[in-house]
Amino acid sequence: MDISINGLNKGFHTAGSRKKVLTDLHLELKNPCIFALMGPNGSGKTTLLKILATLILPDSGEVRFNGKDLVKDGAFIRKIAGFVMDAEHSFYQMLTLEENLKFFGGLRGVSGSDCERRTRELADDFGIGGFLGEKAAHCSSGTMQKAAFVRALLHEPSVLLVDEFEKSLDEDSQSRITRRLKNLKETKGTTALCVTHDRRWAKDHADAAGTIAGGRIEK
Ligand SMILES: Nc1ncnc2c1ncn2[C@@H]1O[C@H](COP(=O)(O)OP(=O)(O)O)[C@@H](O)[C@H]1O
Ligand SMILES: [Mg+2]
Repeated sequence: MDISINGLNKGFHTAGSRKKVLTDLHLELKNPCIFALMGPNGSGKTTLLKILATLILPDSGEVRFNGKDLVKDGAFIRKIAGFVMDAEHSFYQMLTLEENLKFFGGLRGVSGSDCERRTRELADDFGIGGFLGEKAAHCSSGTMQKAAFVRALLHEPSVLLVDEFEKSLDEDSQSRITRRLKNLKETKGTTALCVTHDRRWAKDHADAAGTIAGGRIEK
């Protein structure tokens, strides 16, 4: 999946003034790749991901996924993309992880034995197979982050948007998930855009990296 972002602008009204967050931002990702997005707190990383996930609208500019316009074809983007954002708020607290994953898989068109098989396979791979019967409210933040990856990957997305990739993950879990992203890139052509603060991870595992500074991505 190719991602093309041109002249993207986004600002917010705060305390009577308008704060620009993204200014004339450009990014071209050709072919499947793992892209590491870095930048200090408050630089606009989550804002960019929210725009790409169609959760908020840009003020101006153009975003295309394999040529399809993000604003006009929002439904297409939501169908082919997977999101790992704010893992702790991604699940119904009083349902078990398995019940949650069954529900969210169903929303993405993965149901029945397919959903059960993929949930089991991904959860075992990420080391949370033993927690599927636990209520989300009782799970640690690392387990929730891994479950958020399972949720995002159930329908084998062609675009994966990940905020704070390494959040709450130990080294072994990071490696398992990285291995899975590389495998998806090679076998399904998945492009992953991962926000990270880990320069080492970006250097070792990403095909390209960029840093948001002054509202733009510098490579
Ligand atoms: N809904 C909003 N209303 C007002 N300001 C916002 C909103 N969302 C984000 N911001 C502001 O935009 C800036 C970038 O935020 P964010 O994208 O979350 O940064 P990052 O993820 O890089 O830490 C911050 O100054 C933040 O306060
Ligand atoms: Mg953020």
